[in-house]
Amino acid sequence: MKATRIAVTGAAGQISYSLLFRLAAGDLLGPEQPMILQLLEIETMADAMAGVVMELKDCAFPLLQEVLVTADPYQAFADADLVFLIGARPRGPGMKRKDLLSANAGIFSEQGKALNEVAQKDAKVLVVGNPANTNALITIHNAPDMNPQNFAAMTRLDHNRALSLLAEKCHSPVMDVRRVSIWGNHSLTQFPDLFHAQVKGKPALEWVDMDWYENDFIPTVQNRGAEVIRLRGKSSAASAANAALDHMRDWVFGTPAGDWISAAVLSDGSYGIAGDIVYSFPMIAENGLLQIVQGLDINDFSRSRMKRTEQELLEERDAIKDLL
Ligand code: NAD
Ligand code: LMR
Repeated sequence: MKATRIAVTGAAGQISYSLLFRLAAGDLLGPEQPMILQLLEIETMADAMAGVVMELKDCAFPLLQEVLVTADPYQAFADADLVFLIGARPRGPGMKRKDLLSANAGIFSEQGKALNEVAQKDAKVLVVGNPANTNALITIHNAPDMNPQNFAAMTRLDHNRALSLLAEKCHSPVMDVRRVSIWGNHSLTQFPDLFHAQVKGKPALEWVDMDWYENDFIPTVQNRGAEVIRLRGKSSAASAANAALDHMRDWVFGTPAGDWISAAVLSDGSYGIAGDIVYSFPMIAENGLLQIVQGLDINDFSRSRMKRTEQELLEERDAIKDLL
């Protein structure tokens, strides 16, 4: 069987330290599919990177055919089928994700150009590095020969946080919760939507009251990343790697019938959201394509929050317009 080429940037960082071992173990593509890992790191991390590669080899993963390490994105992305853009500075305590924009934006314009030149034309590219939505927009603009539908920014971690918090509140297993949505930016303005969510087939808002939803659940999901940083002193890593894996698995193999995921994609104007921003919507994946779930009723409560997070993305876009 032909090996899948998986490119991962920031490969010596925290998230990659969780992700790479799960990829190589077959958690993404299953127990039959061999892979080649193409790892991108900056030169100054060469020792740490070499240590991670040593550990990967020491696992003797049967599916791992080859590990390539480089500081050159054109080598890292050559013929890549699946791409995780993780390499970027994380925020520290007290910072907002958009404070990272000036530090990280340049990385994504360079990498977009490299993807455009050398990756498979139908490669699936997931942007994790923050601020993920606007970094994804930069990447898309710099890869004009690739279909914008091949790109997404990760809001799956927010989605998973929402699933887990709702399940806990309803004393139900996560598998009984469906149709939670994250709208907008992977930031404090994101809107976690329970109006369409179900627990054991019954509307979520019949299980919980509006006061809990508005004043507890929404701010908890919005602030979860900062809370992890406050408690751990570092930003989320294992849960981020898990979300990246969940996202890519569903993108490749499809979302379960009757349910959806959240992912940020280039807006096509659905739900009246401005075009040319990367906005999180409820999504289904089918035949390797992500599609926005259409036709949901949006009430005034939701609409005002969806507009607020849209506005923030428009401001972020304005701040990096030179890179588009
Ligand atoms: P980290 O600092 O541990 O690792 C980042 C790695 O990227 C470092 O090893 C660094 O050397 C490398 N890097 C920097 N510039 C690079 C470049 N040009 N090319 C290749 N590699 C480069 O950080 P982390 O905890 O792994 O987080 C990575 C990013 O993911 C951060 O921006 C973080 O905020 C973001 N993040 C996003 C989500 C999400 O839900 N979207 C969740 C968690 C973290
Ligand atoms: C998260 O949501 O955990 C990440 O985006 C890291 C952060 O800065 O919050």
